[in-house]
Amino acid sequence: MNVLVVGGAGYIGSHCVRQLQAAGHRPVVLDNFVYGHRGALAGGVALHEGNLGDEGFVGRVLREEKIDLVMHFAAYCYVGESVTAPLKYYFNNVAETLHLLNAMNTAGVKKFVFSSTCATFGVPPTLPIHEGLPQAPINPYGQTKLDIENVLKALAVAHQFSFAAFRYFNAAGAAEDGSIGEDHHPETHLIPLAIDVAVGRRPQLQLFGTDYPTPDGTCLRDYVHVDDLSRAHIAVFDRLATPGAQYFYNLGTGRPTSNREVIRAVERATGRSVKVVESPRRAGDPPALYADSTLAQRELGWKVRFPDIDSIVATAWKWHSSHPRGYADR
Ligand SMILES: NC(=O)c1ccc[n+]([C@@H]2O[C@H](COP(=O)([O-])OP(=O)(O)OC[C@H]3O[C@@H](n4cnc5c(N)ncnc54)[C@H](O)[C@@H]3O)[C@@H](O)[C@H]2O)c1
Repeated sequence: MNVLVVGGAGYIGSHCVRQLQAAGHRPVVLDNFVYGHRGALAGGVALHEGNLGDEGFVGRVLREEKIDLVMHFAAYCYVGESVTAPLKYYFNNVAETLHLLNAMNTAGVKKFVFSSTCATFGVPPTLPIHEGLPQAPINPYGQTKLDIENVLKALAVAHQFSFAAFRYFNAAGAAEDGSIGEDHHPETHLIPLAIDVAVGRRPQLQLFGTDYPTPDGTCLRDYVHVDDLSRAHIAVFDRLATPGAQYFYNLGTGRPTSNREVIRAVERATGRSVKVVESPRRAGDPPALYADSTLAQRELGWKVRFPDIDSIVATAWKWHSSHPRGYADR
C-alpha cells in the first residue's frame, strides 16, 4: 500500500516508516519539522514538507502519491503545556486534523490509522485499562485525542471512513540496530532522562512522588516498545478494507513498571548510577496506568517482542550511546 505517514519524521512515526518498508509497503512522509528530525527519515522515502492542515497541499500529496491509507502521528504531546496553552493544542491536534480529514474525504482516501493515547482514559476506575472503560481525560492533551476519536466515529458512519485508533501507553525504546531513536526537545520521558543523567548530560533526575500506594511508592506505567507499536499499525490494514469499519485498541505490554524499576534498568544497561532527587507528586499523575491489550492480541494477532523493561531499555541505550547528541539538529 501507499501509506502517507503524517508526522513521519517524529519518534514513533519514523519507526513506523521503517516497519512499513520492511513489510513491503511504500511509506510517504509528511511533516512540518516543528519537532521532527531529517536524520530520522529512512533513505529513499518521499518527503513532503508542510503542514497537515493545509488542505491544498495535503490534497496534492494524496493524489500525486496515489495514497491508499493515512497514518496520523502528528500532534503536540506535552501534557503540562496543554494545560497552560490549551488553544495551541486544540488548534494543532484538533483543528489541523479536521483539515487533514477533509482533504482525505475530498480526495476519496478513507482509510485512517490514528495515534491516540491512554490519556483519553484519565484516572481509570479499574486496572488494567481495557477498551470498555469510560474515557474521561484529565488534561487538554488527552481531550484533543478523544475529540478526534469521536470525529472519526462520525466519519465512519457518514462517509464510510474505516479507521483504527490506537491508544498507546508509554512508547519507549529504539530501533534494534540503533539507527533511529527518541530525541524530543524538550525531553520529558523517563527513560531518555534517566540515560542523560547516567551519562552526565544532566546533573540529576527528579523523581515525582514516592508516596503512591504502589509497591515501591512510585508511579506504575506500561512501557511498550516503539517497534511493537508500529507492528500493530500494519497488522490492522486488512481490517480497514471494509468501508465504515472502526476499531479501538489499547496498546501496552500489560506489565506495570515503577519509576524506580525504570531507573534501575537504566543503571543496569549503562553500568552507571542515576542520581535521583525525590520530589513531591506532580498534579495529575495517576498512581498506576497499564493496559489490557487482549483485544489487539486476539483480533490483530499482535504479540509484543519486547515484554520487559530491560529489553526495551537495552535498545534505548544502544541508540543513545551511539548518538550522544541525538540527531544533533537542535
Ligand atoms: N511518545 C509517547 O509515549 C506517546 C504516547 C501516547 C500517544 N502518543 C501519540 O503518538 C504520536 C507520536 O508521538 P511522538 O512521540 O512520535 O511525537 P513527535 O513529536 O516525536 O512526532 C510528531 C511529529 O509530528 C510533526 N508535526 C506536529 N504537528 C504537525 C503539523 N501541524 N503538520 C505537520 N507535522 C506536524 C512533528 O514535527 C513531529 O515530527 C502523537 O500523536 C502522540 O500524541 C505518543
